[in-house]
Amino acid sequence: MKISKDIAEAAQLLKEGQVIAIPTETVYGLAANALDPTAVLEIYKVKERPATNPLIVHIHAIEQLTPLVSEMGANAQRLAEHFWPGPLTLLLKKTDRISDQITAGSPLVAIRMPKHPMTLELLKSVAFPLVAPSANRYTTVSPTSAEHVAKNLGERIPLILDGGPCEKGLESTVVGFDANDRPLIYRLGAVTLEAIQAIVPEAGVYESALSEPAHSPGMAKKHYAPKTALRVVDDLRVFLENYSGNQKLGVLSFGHQGLAPSPHTLVELSQNRDLEEGSQRLYQSLYALDEANVDLIVAEWFEDKGLGQTLNDKLKRASY
Ligand code: TXA
Ligand code: MG
Repeated sequence: MKISKDIAEAAQLLKEGQVIAIPTETVYGLAANALDPTAVLEIYKVKERPATNPLIVHIHAIEQLTPLVSEMGANAQRLAEHFWPGPLTLLLKKTDRISDQITAGSPLVAIRMPKHPMTLELLKSVAFPLVAPSANRYTTVSPTSAEHVAKNLGERIPLILDGGPCEKGLESTVVGFDANDRPLIYRLGAVTLEAIQAIVPEAGVYESALSEPAHSPGMAKKHYAPKTALRVVDDLRVFLENYSGNQKLGVLSFGHQGLAPSPHTLVELSQNRDLEEGSQRLYQSLYALDEANVDLIVAEWFEDKGLGQTLNDKLKRASY
């Protein structure tokens, strides 16, 4: 495996039907030619992902949708215009060009236009769309740097295209539409419910998206989990003051001044309690605490709105 910034080499490998890792603004993806069934199958193998979990198709231009999607409602168009390129994935009616293997048998295909200059250039130079799940093994933490990909599944792929640390650090928000064209969030992500409602006010969260592992496997109860056990508490300070166990703790702080965690290990998500910074750093902090050999990671729930809602969702699944 090689970590490289060579877009031409990455394009060549993809054209040969190989699976490589690519940077996006959300998390690193494990990419392959969406129109090559053997390459798509290889993704499921490398990721150890059950075939029942569908993949997101990545494009660089709206015109690429025409052969892939049979219809696009008014609200989908509005959201695409506003958020693409960016961390929003839309569930749209597929054409026969998209295999059942990609959608796990669903008539809907998940599509997004990522916002990373290297990957947009790569998409242009290969001329086919790319399927790309997050570049981690099934249920583990999504990688937000080339080094994390290398740790997670480096020995299984020939190349990691290095685009630096991911700007958002959380996956895209997956949005579908009900029979009345109402947008519903199936997976909370880097685009907040509030931001979507600013474009389409009636948008909501799919009712079981917050509980059952049903329609979108990104909603599986256990997901995004570090190797180390994770516990989420209401008040980190109170928890630490009363802690009398002898486990080595990894403390995930969000601007908690003077927590004095010694002899434990403290990782700061954002000194200024900035949710964008906290989001950007969540997964890399979980990787760091896994490496620090602590016995238990402790985090505190966020205020449940905006990116705090997404962060809470990820913490809930990571601690399940
Ligand atoms: O930010 C992202 O979305 C990253 C980067 C690499 O683009 N990709 C990513 O892919 O997170 P993945 O495979 O780890 O998660 C895809 C999510 C899953 O929750 C999956 O269930 C949902 O999208 N999804 C994909 N296709 C779907 C479909 N046809 N119907 C419903 N949900 C779908
Ligand atoms: Mg994933």
